[in-house]
Amino acid sequence: MTTIGIIGAGNIGSQIARKAVQLGYDVVIGNSRGPETLADLVVELGPRARAATASEAGTAADFAVLTIPLRNLDRISAESLAGKVVIDTNNYYWERDGHIEALDRGEATTSGMVQEHLRDSRVAKGFNHILAAEITTTGTPEGTENRRALATASDHADASALVAELYDEFGFDTVDIGPLSESWRVERDRPAYVVRQNAAELETNLARAPRTV
Ligand SMILES: NC(=O)c1ccc[n+]([C@@H]2O[C@H](COP(=O)([O-])OP(=O)(O)OC[C@H]3O[C@@H](n4cnc5c(N)ncnc54)[C@H](OP(=O)(O)O)[C@@H]3O)[C@@H](O)[C@H]2O)c1
Repeated sequence: MTTIGIIGAGNIGSQIARKAVQLGYDVVIGNSRGPETLADLVVELGPRARAATASEAGTAADFAVLTIPLRNLDRISAESLAGKVVIDTNNYYWERDGHIEALDRGEATTSGMVQEHLRDSRVAKGFNHILAAEITTTGTPEGTENRRALATASDHADASALVAELYDEFGFDTVDIGPLSESWRVERDRPAYVVRQNAAELETNLARAPRTV
């Protein structure tokens, strides 16, 4: 059995958990307020899921999903995620996260910041450019005509390969953007952001993305 540690149990974390348990993964999910606040969610998710603290979710994970507001990145235990693939769903909303100059200037990427914080993990971007509700409703089997595609990026080939495999199980094709330094192409407000697109359309949208918006 593969255990996914999900850090963040909001819109995206809960949706990834729903699809993951359907697919037969075990899920350990945590938030900032403590496992007791996730009682309803784990009942809904069923026996494959349990709630834990965020760092316990990291420790229990074969691989992890980090899905919290960017402003709280420093509060995440890097130790609990060391040596693991971490799928990073976060986006930069300066209205929520406060201004981060390096992002405003186009000199950094959100997932690059996550990789810097989680220096002993292998971070891959994933699920940042799909609306939470659509994670469980827009996937289709491999080979479906006009299948929806999602992008990933990582500095670690095994991490992007893991995301591609998970995307396929969730019902999506993958476009690999390459290293995290190129991952701005699928950040907020770029052409590929939260639109339904197939692989060819996604490639076109990534290519025409402006560095700053
Ligand atoms: N909503 C979307 O459709 C969507 C789509 C793509 C990407 N995203 C991005 O994905 C990330 C998550 O979005 P969301 O909509 O799921 O957010 P959300 O609904 O606000 O949920 C955030 C979750 O993160 C948890 N959290 C916050 N700080 C934490 C910490 N220090 N340790 C552990 N857990 C912590 C929160 O726990 P508490 O409630 O206990 O504080 C909550 O469960 C954001 O960066 C967002 O921009 C969102």
